Amino acid sequence: MKIDDHLSPPSGGRGAKLEVCLSPALLSLYNVEEYIVVIVDIFRATSSICYGIENGAEAIIPVAEVDECLAYRDKQAGYLLAAERNGEVVKGFDFGNSPFSYTKEKVAGKTVVLTTTNGTQALHLSRSAKKVVIGSFLNLTALCNWLKTQNENILLVCAGWKNNFNLEDTLFSGAVVEQLKSGDYKTDDSAIAANDLYRLGKNDLNAYLAKTSHSERLKKLGIEADIAFCLNVDITTAIPVLEGERLVKLRV
Ligand code: MLT
Repeated sequence: MKIDDHLSPPSGGRGAKLEVCLSPALLSLYNVEEYIVVIVDIFRATSSICYGIENGAEAIIPVAEVDECLAYRDKQAGYLLAAERNGEVVKGFDFGNSPFSYTKEKVAGKTVVLTTTNGTQALHLSRSAKKVVIGSFLNLTALCNWLKTQNENILLVCAGWKNNFNLEDTLFSGAVVEQLKSGDYKTDDSAIAANDLYRLGKNDLNAYLAKTSHSERLKKLGIEADIAFCLNVDITTAIPVLEGERLVKLRV
């Protein structure tokens, strides 16, 4: 990448902010009420949520804790309960966070209650935003096309790993910046850095992201196929949006 190959100065998005929160630990620095928040957890929560909603899940209810998820067993019959911790399905649950558990056959017409190590936590911290939507490579362009019509401040919240920065969420945020940057947005340094990172890795996302710590973690668990799946670009168009406690398909 050339040194002058950075974002051009904001040129047009009606002056709205386009910012990236690199870790949930930094979220208190933002007034989330002022933004549309996009939750990003590429490996694998937000990819699986996008895939599940695309495949006709009636709703996905994100909950922060395993116990909360379990409580739905008594609260509501017929819900599928999904729980992941440290990359593994929590014992006793229907499934975890693999996108392959969110196929049409498994989730169409169903409501899934889901808790994950980082993704659902980031979502909970962002609940007071103007709107909370879900982003992944799967729905990248559909998400960006919708964001472009909103004329609102946008904050991409990277779920990271246990409050640490991660490459894959940041790089995806940079892919969103790439699609929006011709608009009149005020980008912060995190958005510029994320976009630079995306431009470094975009020609071979698989190879670039193979070095991430969560790829290593998932490989050790024998689930490399999930990593490759989560890097499919634009195979879905549904945008999951938080309505009350439920993630449902945004009506556009
Ligand atoms: C998370 O929320 O931490 C994840 O998506 C982890 C995973 O399931 O790989």
